[in-house]
Amino acid sequence: MTHTLVYPITTVHNAEGHLEIDGCDVVDLVTEFGTPLVIYEEKTIRDQCRRYLAAFREHTEDFEVIYASKAFFSVAVAQLVMEEGLSIDVSSGGEYHVAKAAGFPAERIFFHGNNKTRDELEYVLSEGAGFVVADSFQELALIEELMAPRGVAQRVLLRITPGVEAHTHSYIETGQVDSKFGFGLGDGVALEAIREALISPHIDLVGLHAHIGSQIFQLDGYRKAIEILVKLIGQAHAGFGFQCRYLNVGGGLGIRYTQEDTPSSIGEYAAVKMQGVREEMAAMGLPMPRVLIEPGRSIVGKAGVTAYRVGTIKEIPGVRTYVSVDGGMSDNIRPMLYDAQYEGILANKADQQADTMVTVAGKHCESGDILIRDAVIARPEPGDILVTPATGAYCYAMASNYNGSLRPAVILVNGGRARVIIEREEYADLVAKHRPLRDQGQYQ
Ligand code: LLP
Repeated sequence: MTHTLVYPITTVHNAEGHLEIDGCDVVDLVTEFGTPLVIYEEKTIRDQCRRYLAAFREHTEDFEVIYASKAFFSVAVAQLVMEEGLSIDVSSGGEYHVAKAAGFPAERIFFHGNNKTRDELEYVLSEGAGFVVADSFQELALIEELMAPRGVAQRVLLRITPGVEAHTHSYIETGQVDSKFGFGLGDGVALEAIREALISPHIDLVGLHAHIGSQIFQLDGYRKAIEILVKLIGQAHAGFGFQCRYLNVGGGLGIRYTQEDTPSSIGEYAAVKMQGVREEMAAMGLPMPRVLIEPGRSIVGKAGVTAYRVGTIKEIPGVRTYVSVDGGMSDNIRPMLYDAQYEGILANKADQQADTMVTVAGKHCESGDILIRDAVIARPEPGDILVTPATGAYCYAMASNYNGSLRPAVILVNGGRARVIIEREEYADLVAKHRPLRDQGQYQ
């Protein structure tokens, strides 16, 4: 039996009745690497990159797929997506540092953020970035100031807030936008930002950017956002000859977390975005820009699963059964933060009937530390290995040391082999940056 919907593409139940991912028995993996363990399957990551490239290539040769590294930033995964021909989006000096450590060429790095600090901008501009996506007038002034002594212009896109907010099932037009991000359309703000960037000698304004949300299932919001962006491009073209050479229409494609989820396909997503840009630009009588997209979740989400060991099982007759695992909100905060739904399976009992309804709880000192409410799994016992699928995006990336938890090991599997791509933290890491009082001498 295979699990292709929510799990990495090569996932099967093997002859031992265990969950197996690309030839690696999950029970053997946790014996070797411990728990909690984040397991990424290389083929799914590469497959998602290729699907994006193929889907856009059906519409144009002039496009770029940019991996939003916030979904999971690791040197190895950045290298995988680089090998597949993707560019990378970083939203901080830290993510930029990881991209550089992975060997990403500067010209394929897009630097985002609504509050890039002077230090971050100095670091990134001195090392080089293909594009800075500027978010505010303050930032435009800072880029100009930092680039002037270099005597060259930085390529910049402006982040526009089109007043469209997309949610899983629909979108809303918010009109006068209440958002910390980007330049809004009200009061001609976005138009003024374009005018200002165009006259800044050390800013090479090459295009616009908009990102309208994440985990989006219905694609109509994209069409609306593109319509609004292109209208702005038309106004800026007419007003001050702005040529939009790059149009970055953001990321956001939703993925399946449970069997019930019904996301759109990459093909549908590419068609909506490309047709949208083509038709709107043509209607405006303007040439096609290079179309950029920025997926994060849909590149790595399905490729990752988390394996935990079951510890305490508490049955409250007539109420519920709590199955506690050796991780929780410190490695997956999404259920608490977004009410995100996950499935679970016992990897060592993968072929057994899933007939027991339980609540999977973490080990942290909070009642809300619940990973799955009403999971239906095989009869659990202490020592079982519980796997939650679709944890590849925004789980490790948002992991913490809460309650002195150690961030899990992260491994990459391919063709029956596994390699560690991020080491498990150790107790010593928890105090590595702490300084005992006696080392501090007197207050200064
Ligand atoms: N581009 C920009 C400017 C973004 O802000 C984001 C995500 C992306 C691209 C990638 O979006 P994606 O394709 O992954 O949907 N922590 C939340 C998700 C936050 C997304 C933030 N921005 C979660 O766990 O659901």
